[in-house]
Amino acid sequence: MSKLTLNEQTICFAEGETLLDVASRQGLEIPTLCHDPRLEPAGACRSCLVEVAGERLMTPACARVAQEGMVVATENERIDRHRQTLMALYMTDHPHEREISEAGSPDLLLDMAAEFDAPMDWGWMEPMRGDREDRNPYVDFNPDTCIACARCVRYCEEIEGVSAITLAGRGSHTTISTVEEKSLLDTTCELCGGCIDVCPTGAMNEKLPLMRGQKPERELVKVRSTCNFCGVGCQLDLNVDLEGRDGQGQIVKVTSPPPGTTTNDGNLCVKGRFAYDFVHHKDRLTQPLVRDEDGVFHPTTWDDALERAAEGLLGVAERHGADALGFVSSSRCTMEENFLVQKMARALFRANHVHQCAAT
Ligand code: SF4
Ligand code: SF4
Ligand code: FES
Repeated sequence: MSKLTLNEQTICFAEGETLLDVASRQGLEIPTLCHDPRLEPAGACRSCLVEVAGERLMTPACARVAQEGMVVATENERIDRHRQTLMALYMTDHPHEREISEAGSPDLLLDMAAEFDAPMDWGWMEPMRGDREDRNPYVDFNPDTCIACARCVRYCEEIEGVSAITLAGRGSHTTISTVEEKSLLDTTCELCGGCIDVCPTGAMNEKLPLMRGQKPERELVKVRSTCNFCGVGCQLDLNVDLEGRDGQGQIVKVTSPPPGTTTNDGNLCVKGRFAYDFVHHKDRLTQPLVRDEDGVFHPTTWDDALERAAEGLLGVAERHGADALGFVSSSRCTMEENFLVQKMARALFRANHVHQCAAT
């Protein structure tokens, strides 16, 4: 196995690992903005620069492949000075106030500027990145907080495979756009919202919570759940305002757990990410109902409802045999729930008539 020296320690590394991979494995924190472990490195934001002995210029740890015998420093005075200067430069056309910059998603640039104690008085110029009107209902883009790191563009191309957005313009005018500045609805965009999830500054944001004036993401509580739009079992985080709906709690938005932590690896589809309003719909059943002799549904307890259902099913089996029973599950249930339905049918009722809509 190859070896290098990292902050005066000898470390083994596997072929193809970047300096960022090696440092992360050692528990060393290197700041990153444009890096995403699922994407090809771009080396765009320059926040992860480290020193390699014998090289005049610092090098981006996210893009530099480790080599045998390298001597690398991830922390020293020069690197600190670089991080401070870089953040100060970014902040010269970036909103300084959290209320403005973080109306929706968190802004990691503000966190990093504070962490490195970046001077905030290097002058200020109005951001020049162009905006465009977009009537799509879900994805908002705020050019003022964009740092042109292209994470959204690379995600759209490399993960989603649709290339609906691109970098457009030059220099300070560089912005995120579509072909002929069309609405995302008129492009190949699948409204997966992945560009929102990967954006480090919140420049890509979810429209609905902004339009509804809901709390910013930092003030919400994340509750891990399983998406119920299909049986794949993607994990998602419900971002809940605990005080919403008169203290009953309200789902404000859905985000994906970080890449590498769940089976969906930080990805969601349009339904999983944006179709959450049904949870609080007034017509939604929120308690069990049983039909009484008057023929009308009445609210009851779960114990009573389950007992009545069991009695009914056992009654049919007694009168007509187990073959008279049929159990239909749904592809919107999780794999585990579908397993339990067939187990109940076969083991408890001795019935083999089990079906699920995805089987056809
Ligand atoms: S929503 Fe998905 S498909 Fe549309 S631009 Fe963003 S990443 Fe690309
Ligand atoms: S919108 Fe966000 S992810 Fe896209 S380039 Fe701007 S800062 Fe980067
Ligand atoms: S994270 Fe390495 S250059 Fe952006």
